[in-house]
Amino acid sequence: MNLDAMLRDKRVIVLCGAGGVGKTTTAAALGVAAARAGRHVLVLTIDPARRLAEAMGLKENGPEPTTVPPERLYADGPQGEGRLDVWMLEPRVIFERMVRKLSATESAARAILDHRLYRFLSELVAGVQEYAAAEALDSFLTDGHYDLILLDTPPSRHALDFLEAPGRLARFLDDRVISLFGPDSSRTGRLWQGAQALVGKVLDGVFGGGFAQEMRTFVGAFGGLFAGIRLHTERLRAQLASKDAAFLLVTSPEAAALREATFFKDTLLARGLPFAGYVLNRSWAREDGLAPAANLKPHALNAVDTDAVLALEHLAGVEDARATAHRSLLARLAEGLPLGAMAIAAPDAGADLEDFRGLVHLGEALTVA
Ligand SMILES: Nc1ncnc2c1ncn2[C@@H]1O[C@H](COP(=O)(O)OP(=O)(O)OP(=O)(O)O)[C@@H](O)[C@H]1O
Ligand SMILES: [Mg+2]
Repeated sequence: MNLDAMLRDKRVIVLCGAGGVGKTTTAAALGVAAARAGRHVLVLTIDPARRLAEAMGLKENGPEPTTVPPERLYADGPQGEGRLDVWMLEPRVIFERMVRKLSATESAARAILDHRLYRFLSELVAGVQEYAAAEALDSFLTDGHYDLILLDTPPSRHALDFLEAPGRLARFLDDRVISLFGPDSSRTGRLWQGAQALVGKVLDGVFGGGFAQEMRTFVGAFGGLFAGIRLHTERLRAQLASKDAAFLLVTSPEAAALREATFFKDTLLARGLPFAGYVLNRSWAREDGLAPAANLKPHALNAVDTDAVLALEHLAGVEDARATAHRSLLARLAEGLPLGAMAIAAPDAGADLEDFRGLVHLGEALTVA
């Protein structure tokens, strides 16, 4: 399968990789390519570079996805059927959405959101960003509004923890908070009550009087959401393990990034998730755009300024050597891939990425590879 076919067939593509390798840019460029091929696409992005956000007309803290104006998407030709929405994953915005969705009434939602513990708790829980990503992805996959969702991930080895994060959140609240403060705690032994009283005293001491009681009311309200959270995790896991999903590993040609890519590949395979291949970003592995040293030879013979041409020739030789190294790297990445997975080189787009047109070009380069 090539990337073009993948953009046509899949419902969700997750991009993982080391910091700064181009996950966000690749997600955007693939989103542009898929939309221009006629699909209704959502790109869920994390922390995009400013010029990328500007190119896509992305708003910070937007409560809903933003649609890229069709005249921008199809600036170079007739408008097609495709559509491109982009949303920046902001944990706070997503949590609010989730609380609203899962609460029976607006006043029940407000009871949670207005609670001063809400912020405290949502910051306390490890992997909030991953959790937010999982929650957003699940919600968009379930409402079926989009043909394809591209999910950008944060630059960490824990990026895939978003699959576990909802479980972790629920477990955290279950084990540590609910059992201590939950209104229907079934533990009534004297020792237990003593422990509760002690924890309550400590919390009151640290956070001010009444904190423990406040926590109890809050957890009572929040606890009602757990069934929903569990359901979402299970549903999302099933979706991401299915043939509708694909995980692409983005890497640069540098050793550290490649090591991370190998780590992610092993993690995906161990978790039974559909590893779809590598994007070797900003590489010189492609034939296009390179000036092989040999092409300069005839000029060197007739040139007036031989020194300058010799210097150029030298540079071209360096480029050639780099391109050869990147090509063999790409070939090595392609070795031993699971059936149907691919290794694709993306060129260095340089200053071309300044505007939307640059994304269109990068998307085209990726899909014709
Ligand atoms: N193919 C490319 N050609 C030229 N520049 C690129 C390319 N891909 C990415 N970049 C540039 O590299 C920088 C990092 O890219 P990007 O933000 O997409 O990486 P990332 O993997 O999402 O980073 P982070 O891990 O910080 O989220 C950006 O300035 C981007 O414009
Ligand atoms: Mg990024």
